[in-house]
Amino acid sequence: MPTTATAAEADGHHPHPAADRRTFAIISHPDAGKTTLTERLLVQGGAVREAGEVKSRKSARTAVSDWMALEQQRGISVSSTVLAFDAEGVRFNLLDTPGHADFSEDTYRTLWAADAAVMVLDAAKGLEAQTRKLFAVARRRGLPILTFVNKMDRPALEPLGLLDEVAREMDLTPVPLTWPVGDGPDFAGVIDREARELVAFERDREASDTRPAPREPLEGDGPGWPAQLLAAARDDVALLDAEHGEPDPAEPVDREAFLAGRLTPVLFGSALGGFGVAELLQAVRTLAPAPRPQPTREGGVLPVDGSFVGQVFKVQANMNPRHRDRMAFVRVASGRFERGMSVTVARSGRRQQLKHAHQAFADERETADEALPGDIVGVVGAGELQVGDTLSPDGRVELAEIPTFAPERFVVVRNRASSTYKQFRAGVTQLDEEGVVHVLRRPEHGEREPILAGVGQLQFEVASHRLATEFGAEVTLEPAPWRLARIVDGEAAGALRGQRGVEVAQDRHGRWLALFDSEHALRWAQEDHPSVTFAPLGIVAE
Ligand code: G4P
Repeated sequence: MPTTATAAEADGHHPHPAADRRTFAIISHPDAGKTTLTERLLVQGGAVREAGEVKSRKSARTAVSDWMALEQQRGISVSSTVLAFDAEGVRFNLLDTPGHADFSEDTYRTLWAADAAVMVLDAAKGLEAQTRKLFAVARRRGLPILTFVNKMDRPALEPLGLLDEVAREMDLTPVPLTWPVGDGPDFAGVIDREARELVAFERDREASDTRPAPREPLEGDGPGWPAQLLAAARDDVALLDAEHGEPDPAEPVDREAFLAGRLTPVLFGSALGGFGVAELLQAVRTLAPAPRPQPTREGGVLPVDGSFVGQVFKVQANMNPRHRDRMAFVRVASGRFERGMSVTVARSGRRQQLKHAHQAFADERETADEALPGDIVGVVGAGELQVGDTLSPDGRVELAEIPTFAPERFVVVRNRASSTYKQFRAGVTQLDEEGVVHVLRRPEHGEREPILAGVGQLQFEVASHRLATEFGAEVTLEPAPWRLARIVDGEAAGALRGQRGVEVAQDRHGRWLALFDSEHALRWAQEDHPSVTFAPLGIVAE
């Protein structure tokens, strides 16, 4: 493998200030093995000693800090966690996207803070719904994607068929770095295409064992591997070599195509067995890019080596009514963040001192004294910070907006007691501005029964919880049948109002939205009104 991407990343004159940073996220469908892989990566990186520690420590920490009462209640991760660890001369920032079925816009936004993504596929299932969605968002962001085919120790789909699926459905050229020999009970290991070696899977390995897996030359017999399986895998590798060329150790995949999101390096393994994890970490180190210049609102790009600039990509409100604090997660885009520094928020022009800043280190060092591009700091007590805000010394730079994502779920929210109507209104407005949910208002219901729109049920529950605890407004949420929202002009809204399967409402910017209960309803409306433009509200993750 090449040493690191750093030399290529530097612009030739100035050394890259964060050449050793790799900020990446794992995307997967629930149950594909994201949590297990995260743990094994941390074990491999030397950040935790025991597999299983991450899960248990996560809950221990929650109990101590009472930070996420809702997470405890539901036993799921409300927030995306960021874990930093140092290994082999690289600082890895691993952004953990909540992988639960009911995820939220935060899951998508997290991808805006990453420079690369690892897509985990369950070898028995291939591409699944949530992977496709997250992939669509990652692609929109232009993230290079590495693929890890997990659970090879279980009966798996044909690997060539699996790669075909990736190529066809994702329009990505998969280039295997390793190739499996057998699957399920017969899974013997992989062929490392670049090293031209057989790498043996040891079934009964301890989860904490980070010694390299045993290897022998490709020409060998494998440590007792079934000859037939090995022969078949060698044939496949010969085919791959013919198709992609034998990997060049200096550049095992066409890096330009990878960085441009046209090609995905693929590794096969078993997260549970800790197999293929070291190779994956190595691939992230050598192939994933160091932080790149970020686009600005004016259409330029911000170099990484200027004075400090950071952007808020997520705001986490404390769910505990006794601690109404909130944490803003800031990704450093340029320069050096130092604790206690004063910055200006570009949107408001207000000064803000970043006194209480934290970094989530996997090995417990929590206070961030300084951070470089690609690093994430959590700023406490940042009352007025909002998603998308740019922080800089003079407030003159503004990074490109973090897009909103097309809502797919809708509920009608009602205030239970008329005495708290004012609080209800104020709360709903604030949650809308913070990006917790989209709030839509129908002409006949006005402020009283707004519609909340989001990508996951979780967003509504967070909203309802915060309305009650922070604003003192108890609400009911009534599921609504709509599935799609399209921006239309006022005239079209008038024409569509009252039609079957359609509702119209306005967002806080005064834009008209037509809500449809199905793709059919949208198609009919498009046919009935051929001159109307139906524009999606935010990125459609499909
Ligand atoms: P997620 O975060 O993507 O939702 O997946 P998670 O890691 O929780 O894994 C889902 C299930 O798949 C877990 O089993 C986990 O042990 C199992 N798993 C993950 N990687 C592998 C693998 O490489 N091989 C095999 N055979 N299984 C794997 P569970 O029984 O649902 O949970 P648990 O009781 O083991 O935690």
